[in-house]
Amino acid sequence: MNAITKNATVKIKRCEKLPPVHFTPHPLFGAVFAPHILRMNLHLDGTNDFNAEIKPLEDEPFSPTSSVLHYGQSIFEGMKAFRQKDGRVGVFRADKHATRFRNSARRMVMADVPEDVFLKCIQEYTAFVADNVPSEPDHSLYLRPLLIAADHKIKVGAAQSYIFYIMSSIAGGYFGGAKPKRARVMVNRQFVRAYPGGLGEAKTAANYAASIWPQRLAAQRECDQVLYLDALHHDFIDELGGMNFFAVRGKELLTPVLNGCILDGVTRRSLLEVAPALGLKPVETQLSFTDLRKQIQTGKITETFACGTAAVVSPIGEFLFQDTLEAQPELISLPEQNPATQQLLSHLKGIQHGEIKAPGNWILHV
Ligand SMILES: Cc1ncc(COP(=O)(O)O)c(C=O)c1O
Repeated sequence: MNAITKNATVKIKRCEKLPPVHFTPHPLFGAVFAPHILRMNLHLDGTNDFNAEIKPLEDEPFSPTSSVLHYGQSIFEGMKAFRQKDGRVGVFRADKHATRFRNSARRMVMADVPEDVFLKCIQEYTAFVADNVPSEPDHSLYLRPLLIAADHKIKVGAAQSYIFYIMSSIAGGYFGGAKPKRARVMVNRQFVRAYPGGLGEAKTAANYAASIWPQRLAAQRECDQVLYLDALHHDFIDELGGMNFFAVRGKELLTPVLNGCILDGVTRRSLLEVAPALGLKPVETQLSFTDLRKQIQTGKITETFACGTAAVVSPIGEFLFQDTLEAQPELISLPEQNPATQQLLSHLKGIQHGEIKAPGNWILHV
């Protein structure tokens, strides 16, 4: 057992195990659920006994009076369990997700889930649903820990009661399913997702709510995602709606510096950490879109990609750029070849599936 989880005093009641979910390869992301969830009640005042329950997903009741539905106290994580080369199941960088979850809860004034409790729940839940972890190439079980406010009160303020859940769904390819395609990304200076002093750094529902309208406009122009620029200058690159951003310039691996408005992505961090071993120099910097555009057009920047737990490492082939919503869009294309992106992708996948030795405690075996 991983050292970090051995002290957690979590008691878990388990239901009878249901058969694993059936799926066709590369199902729609986030739509095919494993049949069980983990559920635990928590209080803001910290008087928590950490009694959890693993139960059938379909038995969970829900009421429209729940305060989360009205005032948005909702945080979550997205992490993956992978079938390892040796047949075991391993969760990728669970400790990093545990810390980020706790930070998000603090920012949103929600009940605390200590790291060891979070990790123990992840470990026990994943072990219980392990027969749902796919063995097919490029598949995994996407784990979704969620914390929601659960007071039955229609008055704005921090709730006293919370529910911690873990659910999971089958994940295949994110862009283009079995045949991954290079993403086409929309950039519009008028789109704002997060701003200094706001919630951008927390993995909370409001950030995703803010991205739904820009995402809709992007989809109407056949774009897969939106790349957001900063809220003050409308020029510095922040991140995509659900992924961090990278660019390759010679041997430099460029990514926007953490500025409080973007998520401290676990995939981003992992790529920065493995880059030197692959001959790339990680550079965290302020990256203006104006400069990026110029450097793509002059051939200095040759590759761009998005990364995240769901999308892994997804090459970006085109940007559709607009100064304003009314402006004529400009198409900016990147070369077909993206050797650094492919090298990072295959290295990361190798680590996640236990084919390449993971640094430190990156894989939590269940
Ligand atoms: C807004 C946002 N940025 C970045 C990421 C990538 O983070 P990670 O690599 O931890 O999945 C995600 C996905 O969780 C996200 O939702």
